[in-house]
Amino acid sequence: MIKKTHHFKNMRAMAIQQTPLKSEKRILLEHEHVPEINKIDVYTSKGGYSALKKVFQNKMTPDSVIDLMKASGLRGRGGAGFPTGSKWSFVPKGNDKPKYLLCNADESEPGTFKDRVLLEKLPHLMIEGMIIGAYSFGARKSYVYIRGEYTYAAMMVEKAIQEAYQVGYLGKNILGSGFDHDMYVHRGAGAYICGEETGLISSLEGKKGWPKLKPPFPAVEGYLKCPTVVNNVETLACVPWIINNGPEAYAKMGTEKSKGTKMWSVSGDVAQPGVYEVELGAPFSVLLNDCCGGIRGGKKLKAVIPGGSSAPIVTAEEAFAMTLDYESIASKGSMLGSGGMIILDESRDLVQVLKNLSEFYADESCGQCTPCREGTGWLEKILHSFTEKQALKTDIELLDRISSNMLGRTICVLADSIAMPVQSYLKKFPQEFQKYLETSSNTSRQRRAL
Ligand SMILES: Cc1cc2nc3c(=O)[nH]c(=O)nc-3n(C[C@H](O)[C@H](O)[C@H](O)COP(=O)(O)O)c2cc1C
Ligand code: SF4
Repeated sequence: MIKKTHHFKNMRAMAIQQTPLKSEKRILLEHEHVPEINKIDVYTSKGGYSALKKVFQNKMTPDSVIDLMKASGLRGRGGAGFPTGSKWSFVPKGNDKPKYLLCNADESEPGTFKDRVLLEKLPHLMIEGMIIGAYSFGARKSYVYIRGEYTYAAMMVEKAIQEAYQVGYLGKNILGSGFDHDMYVHRGAGAYICGEETGLISSLEGKKGWPKLKPPFPAVEGYLKCPTVVNNVETLACVPWIINNGPEAYAKMGTEKSKGTKMWSVSGDVAQPGVYEVELGAPFSVLLNDCCGGIRGGKKLKAVIPGGSSAPIVTAEEAFAMTLDYESIASKGSMLGSGGMIILDESRDLVQVLKNLSEFYADESCGQCTPCREGTGWLEKILHSFTEKQALKTDIELLDRISSNMLGRTICVLADSIAMPVQSYLKKFPQEFQKYLETSSNTSRQRRAL
């Protein structure tokens, strides 16, 4: 384990570990600790905006930028892991309709707080990536949709956008290229569902943040029914490094199908929670022990939620056998998701954990689809009956059945985001539920009304 000094002065500092570690591979966070790196002159002094200059001064064509992204193997960091270059290439060519780039900075999934570091400390990295991305598919306007609670982050991004306008990286005829681009900040109002890309689009259009059925996909018909790309903050922040260093250098990092690095926000029972960047394919133990200083208080690991609260749970044994990439985590029945890792030690009551999560999803369901609107509420109530020692033996089967009936039957995957975890907890930790049944005081054999 590598020793390091931490000065956690407050909760904000806690989320941001202070000293880069040898076990990390910092390409996005390389300059995180440079004082005032959020300011354009400091960012530029560290090589910032050289990728934008390279694109325009070398007269790279939009298609060649997309080809470069495809060759890098970059996959979206918002959750689904969709290849970024391909997504950009789906935008129809031609100028009959305006095109838009939307940066998804809604970051509301429990356990996920990695984009916040980029927004607050390195906003220009994201902005530079956005301008290049927008150029590649001809978007003249982009929006950064920021989670309502991220007041400070929104302020930092606003300031950075103003700075970029002042030096001519935004606005008309950027660096004499003939390309015009305007960028705006839009603040959300605290709804998790507005992070789902079509919910985000609805919200930006001024409507309720309701997800829409796909197809049509946003690349063809998105914001204001125009071609739209929605990308995560971290995804866009990868773009300048790829342009500067070449797609081969990027593709050299990681595994065959998971290229590059990944930012992880680690919370829960670890000695040093925080945001770390490691190469994809790194062993789980590197993140847990080398970066996070191991389990807090010398306890044992019980379980891991690898990629945000919607990721199915994995056992300690599975976690130590996995590497941190899309495929390895999937092979353990879970997903890399947003990279919001929650570590649970041996003292944690997983039924309580699941009940808390179910409350969140029941609260955040937008209510359009019956299986989600009703199912999330039912799951919450049944899990509550466990923790209130009122559960019935049949409740285990009922939880499983309700979850099965929610999966894949809704407009967006919010329903799956709690149904999958429920099934994984039941499968991997049945004893946790059994323990509650043994002490249940519900002798009536009657289920209370759901
Ligand atoms: C309920 C829900 C919430 C989501 N929240 C976010 C979010 O906060 N940030 C994000 O980037 N993606 C979020 N996503 C994923 C987006 O729908 C979308 O896949 C992503 O922004 C695409 O960007 P990428 O290709 O760069 O990963 C969410 C998805 C769902 C179903
Ligand atoms: S699955 Fe849930 S959150 Fe998604 S659209 Fe349907 S009701 Fe809304």
